[in-house]
Amino acid sequence: MNENTNLIDAAEGAAILIKAAGPIVISSKCVITKADGTVDIKEKTSLCGCGASANKPYCDGSHKNVSINQL
Ligand code: FES
Repeated sequence: MNENTNLIDAAEGAAILIKAAGPIVISSKCVITKADGTVDIKEKTSLCGCGASANKPYCDGSHKNVSINQL
């Protein structure tokens, strides 16, 4: 068991809403391990599901400017 496993156990589950052509909304405490290995602990967050965010893995609202044909 590593440090991240302990953090995930502390989250005690998550509610996740995947919006079409938009963000993946996590409505409960969660642990986000990013591609570079850094870890964020969030009370709630929105992950980019469209690929347009300049602040990946998080949604920055850019999906509002992306046509569904671009996804
Ligand atoms: S889902 Fe919002 S910027 Fe990608």
